[in-house]
Amino acid sequence: MMLLEVLALTIAIVHFATPLIYYAYLKRYERRPWNIRVDNGYKCRLAVILPTYNETEIIKEKLENIEQQDYPKELLKVIVIDSSDDGTAHVVEEWSSTNNDLNLKLIKEKERRGKLYALDLALKHVSPDCGVIVFTDADAFWNPKALSKAVSLLADPNVGAVTARIMYTGIKDKLLENTYRDYYNVVRVAESKVHSTPVHNGPFLAIKAELFHQMGLPMFEGSDDSAFASFIAFTGYRAIEVDDIIVKEPLRGSQILKKIRRAQHLLLNFLATKRYTKKRGLYIKSSFDRIWKIEWWLHVVNPWLLVVGTAFLFVDLALFKSKTGLALLAIGLALLALKSFRMWVFQQLYLAIGAVRNLWNKNTMWKR
Ligand code: GDD
Ligand code: MN
Repeated sequence: MMLLEVLALTIAIVHFATPLIYYAYLKRYERRPWNIRVDNGYKCRLAVILPTYNETEIIKEKLENIEQQDYPKELLKVIVIDSSDDGTAHVVEEWSSTNNDLNLKLIKEKERRGKLYALDLALKHVSPDCGVIVFTDADAFWNPKALSKAVSLLADPNVGAVTARIMYTGIKDKLLENTYRDYYNVVRVAESKVHSTPVHNGPFLAIKAELFHQMGLPMFEGSDDSAFASFIAFTGYRAIEVDDIIVKEPLRGSQILKKIRRAQHLLLNFLATKRYTKKRGLYIKSSFDRIWKIEWWLHVVNPWLLVVGTAFLFVDLALFKSKTGLALLAIGLALLALKSFRMWVFQQLYLAIGAVRNLWNKNTMWKR
């Protein structure tokens, strides 16, 4: 019926127009300056925290990648925190005994309790004179200047966290991961120029250790990467993504499960971090607030508009055999031939499924 069609159309317009307008607005920031005092000479003690769960296949390559960083070895410490049952710890020990120019500490957990728990434990081993903490994953390969670049940005007293852009490699990118990234990197970098981006990437997340020493990091379910950065941004420091620190990550395991889990953890960030910062009495109002509000809408509410709008059209079709309803659905279906449209629609589905799944399982321990 008319009413359903008008409703569905309105909802769809809001759903697609909001991110497009936001994107167009942010595009203007692409060429703006960073307003950051970069100090290329600045070097400090740095701890890389690497949690591992069954990574025998990739761990050596990862350690070699860290070894190839142009950062001074005497300032670098790698803390591997392992809960594997496939002998990863043994591979690490063996590697480190023959490559002893890298200062490596291996912590073995008694049992597997999830990535976040592992990070929390590793943080207890960071020495007080350490200036920067870098979280990473076993399957994250950085460009050789990643560490020095991040440290030169963190030299600015206003910058609290720095993350990298991700590029996916390996098996065919059927699920459009790189298309998704191309779009989001523009958004993340532009938000970072305005103030901060609420979405950070676990494969490379560098934070000023001083902040951690002063106020700790949020440790709630799902807070394994973005929540650290959002928390830091809410306390008044900048949490940025830059485009010249690049992580290459091979696509492995089930992509769909991974995307749903990532959506779940993003949602948990948007639902909890602001309240958490306020409760701790650390919240400072800044231009990050506006970014947060839009991203909150885009993650928490906007996906449901697409779901509801589509449902209306189906009802319209089923109950009233509406031609307009059918035509609108057909247009939507045809647009799926466009890569970026497909990418967008899938992402909305992951967010919707993630929201539902969060109700009974926050997915803090995952299979690959
Ligand atoms: N010690 C420990 N214990 N390490 C773990 C555990 C655990 O229970 N679970 C996973 N890890 C380690 C993995 O070995 C890997 O080094 C890292 O955590 C990330 O896990 P992946 O298996 O590579 O998962 P991903 O690529 O899908 O992870 C992405 O999403 C996560 C949030 O859901 C990344 O962006 C992560 O950084 C992010 O935390
Ligand atoms: Mn990974």
